[in-house]
Amino acid sequence: MGGENEKSGLRLWRNARLATMAEGAAGFGIVEKGALAARDGIIVYAGPEADMPASLGQGAETVDCAGRWITPGLIDCHTHLVYAGNRANEFEMRLAGATYEEVARAGGGIVSSVKSLRAASEDELVAQTLPRLDALMAEGVTTVEVKSGYGLDLDNEKKSLRAARLLDGERKVTVRTTCLAAHALPPEAQGDKDAFIDLVAGTILPEVAAEKLADAVDGFCEGIAFSPEQIARVFDKAKALGLPVKLHADQLSNLHGAALAARYGALSADHLEYTDEGGAAAMAKTGTVATILPGAYYFIRETKKPPVDLFRRHGVKMAVATDSNPGTSPLTSLLLTMNMAATLFGLTVDECLAGVTREAARALGLLDKTGTLEAGKSADLAIWDIERPAELVYRMGFNPLHARIWRGQ
Ligand code: NIG
Ligand code: FE
Repeated sequence: MGGENEKSGLRLWRNARLATMAEGAAGFGIVEKGALAARDGIIVYAGPEADMPASLGQGAETVDCAGRWITPGLIDCHTHLVYAGNRANEFEMRLAGATYEEVARAGGGIVSSVKSLRAASEDELVAQTLPRLDALMAEGVTTVEVKSGYGLDLDNEKKSLRAARLLDGERKVTVRTTCLAAHALPPEAQGDKDAFIDLVAGTILPEVAAEKLADAVDGFCEGIAFSPEQIARVFDKAKALGLPVKLHADQLSNLHGAALAARYGALSADHLEYTDEGGAAAMAKTGTVATILPGAYYFIRETKKPPVDLFRRHGVKMAVATDSNPGTSPLTSLLLTMNMAATLFGLTVDECLAGVTREAARALGLLDKTGTLEAGKSADLAIWDIERPAELVYRMGFNPLHARIWRGQ
């Protein structure tokens, strides 16, 4: 790559097939014989090569894509990537017949990851997380959301978020952080959920916000976690601090978490296996994205599927994410996640691809910056050795990525 060309700041990918994933464009927004130009990391043209302004071709560092497909860089909009150790022992317990809830109530589950995370230093957390991040990036991921939620006290929540913030210094990727302090009750809270919510809303969120460690706030609304009233207190504080919210909602039962999230104008409500029509309608009204997490559904052998037809009927946008975490979804492949969303939940190929690009960007509040191949957005691209977009969803355990471009590089 010529240093001089790079200095001109103009890069051109030509002889490509584009799946722009632009809003409203039919069937992936396909452009055959397409070209994409970026200046200083921002897309300045994406469309038919024949229609490209001639000025963009001059002096640009040019890549001949030889007919390969370009999609937006993939976005994993829901992960718990920062954790220490693993929970393979609980996997064995579940194989022997215990349910996820039984393991959690017996002192395993999230709380066992809390113990491991508290014992790890910030550097150790970064070191343990990087291989997982690398696995995602190897499949074309250019943006990843990372939650805290295994710290569950002020110092350890901050440590997790700082570790997450360090990741994009280590790798060429955009990282968005989410404070999930209201994830589970830590042992020292001795069963007092309301007192713990006081700590989250009164101390953890304000400090995290003051240090700008989080881009959003999440919670786990569930019998084994927090009630809708408790989550509402967390959300009230998040709103007061100017942070957008999202929610682990209706994963194991219907506590009407989807409707609660919508009431707060949440960016997304996630999981949603038990969401009912009222929840879907409420989400549609506020534009709250439904983030579908088939990895967790598969791994805990859930049988109730999220109401995809209701989301379609009400016009709720659907994102698709790995939920990468040690307990319910030790998954670091967004390609396999798409396959699961299609095979297990009946998403179309178009819905899967939109789910890991445009809709994932929407679920992070980043749709103006990434998620589609359109002028004005970051040149976050994935270039694939495929003949048709469906191959990205169809294969299991094969990676056809040719190149990954983040902010034009
Ligand atoms: O997204 N549902 C709650 N949180 C995670 C599970 C975390 C864990 O078990 O460690 C999830 O499934
Ligand atoms: Fe999750």
